[in-house]
Amino acid sequence: MKAVVYREPFSVEIGEVERPSIQHPNDVLVRITSTAICGSDLHMYEGRTAAEPGIVFGHENMGIIEEVGEGVTSLQRGDRVVMPFNVACGFCKNCLAGNTGFCLTVNPGFAGGAYGYVAMGPYTGGQAEYLRVPYADFNCLKLPKEGHEADFVLLADIFPTGYHGCELAQVSPGETVVVYGAGPVGLMAAYSALLRGAARVFSVDRVPERLAKAEEIGAIPIDFSQGDPVEMIKEQTDGEGTDKGVDAVGYQAQVGDASKEEPAIVLNSVIQTVRPTGRIGVPGLYVPSDPGGVDEHAKQGMLRVAIGKMFEKGQVMGTGQCNVKRYNRQLRDLIIAGRAKPSFVVSHELSLTEAPEAYRKFDQRVEGYTKVVLHP
Ligand SMILES: NC(=O)c1ccc[n+]([C@@H]2O[C@H](COP(=O)([O-])OP(=O)(O)OC[C@H]3O[C@@H](n4cnc5c(N)ncnc54)[C@H](O)[C@@H]3O)[C@@H](O)[C@H]2O)c1
Ligand SMILES: [Zn+2]
Ligand SMILES: [Zn+2]
Repeated sequence: MKAVVYREPFSVEIGEVERPSIQHPNDVLVRITSTAICGSDLHMYEGRTAAEPGIVFGHENMGIIEEVGEGVTSLQRGDRVVMPFNVACGFCKNCLAGNTGFCLTVNPGFAGGAYGYVAMGPYTGGQAEYLRVPYADFNCLKLPKEGHEADFVLLADIFPTGYHGCELAQVSPGETVVVYGAGPVGLMAAYSALLRGAARVFSVDRVPERLAKAEEIGAIPIDFSQGDPVEMIKEQTDGEGTDKGVDAVGYQAQVGDASKEEPAIVLNSVIQTVRPTGRIGVPGLYVPSDPGGVDEHAKQGMLRVAIGKMFEKGQVMGTGQCNVKRYNRQLRDLIIAGRAKPSFVVSHELSLTEAPEAYRKFDQRVEGYTKVVLHP
C-alpha cells in the first residue's frame, strides 16, 4: 500500500510499504479516508528527533473498518471511526483514571503510545491506505455514517488537544483568556475557550492567515511581530492581564522578528500575561532532550522559566499530552449537534500523493498552509 515515509530531514516521500494486518484478536484494520498532518509531525520532519528513515507518519486518523479481530465486540466491518492519536489499553491505572495519554501498557518503559511517532511505540502511522488499530474497542470512536469528514478527523488530536489546554487552565464562563500560538492547536484552544463561555480570548501569533482565522471565530488577534504581546494584552485588560492562559506553541517558540528560536519565551510571556492566581495550560510540546537545542541546558530539556514570578503570582500550570479519549465523544456530539465546526482550521484537503509538497509548505507556513487533511 502507499504511505508517507520519512526519508531524511525536510523530506518525505510516498513509499510502497506492507499493508498492515490483524496481529491480535483485539485489533481492527481501518481503511483510512482522512489523515491530517500535525505540527508534531514537523518535529520529526525537521530532523529534530531520533526518528529513523523509513518511519510511516500519521497519528490523526479516521476511516472505515475493513477487518475485525475475533475478540472485538463493539465494532463491525463498515463502521466509520476516528482514533485518538494516543494508543491506549483502557485497563491500566492511568487509563482507568482517564489519563489515556499516559497508558502504561502500550509502550513498555514509557507512559504513552501513539501511531507513527518516534519513541511512542511500535504503531505504524496512518498517513497511508490502511492502519492497524490495537485495543480497538477502546480506541475507536464511532461516527455517523456520513458527513462532517473534515470536522471529525480533527477529533483524533487537535480539537481535543486545544480543549485540553483550556481544561488544564480551567477556562470558565466570563473569563478573559490568552492563547499563545494560532497554529491548529492554538486555534482549537481559542475556539474551545469560546465554546466554554470565555468572554474575551486573545490569540497571539505572527502569521497573517492564522491571525485572520482567529479573528474569524471571534478571538482578538495579537501580532507579536508588532511588539511585546504582554504589553499589548495588558493595555486591553486595564493592566490586569488575563484570567487564564494557554501555551499552544511549545519549544519551537520564536522571538518577535522570527530571526531565532527562544524555547522559553512563550512560557515566560504567558506567566507575565496571566494575572496572579490564574491558571495556565500547556499543550505545546516540550521535550526532555533536544540535541539541536539553543544551549547546553536546552539540549537537556531544561529551560530558563520564570518560576520565581510564577511563585509570586501563585499561578498553577498543567501540561502534557492530551488524553484525547477523555473529550472526543463529547466533542463529537457538539459537532453532530451543529454547535461546533472545528474544520474552519482546515486550509487544504489533498490526496496522499500530494503529501511531500504539503509537508514542505506547511513547514514553511506559506500559502496559508494551516491544517492539511490528506485523503488516501
Ligand atoms: N499536548 C499534546 O497532546 C499535543 C498534541 C498536538 C500538538 N501538540 C503540540 O502543540 C504545539 C502546536 O501545534 P500546532 O500543530 O499548532 O503547531 P504549529 O507549529 O503549526 O503552530 C505553532 C504556532 O506558534 C507560533 N509561534 C511561534 N512563536 C511564537 C511566539 N513567541 N508567540 C506566539 N506564537 C508563536 C507560530 O507562528 C505557529 O503559528 C506543538 O508544539 C505540537 O507539538 C501537542
Ligand atoms: Zn497531531
Ligand atoms: Zn492503559
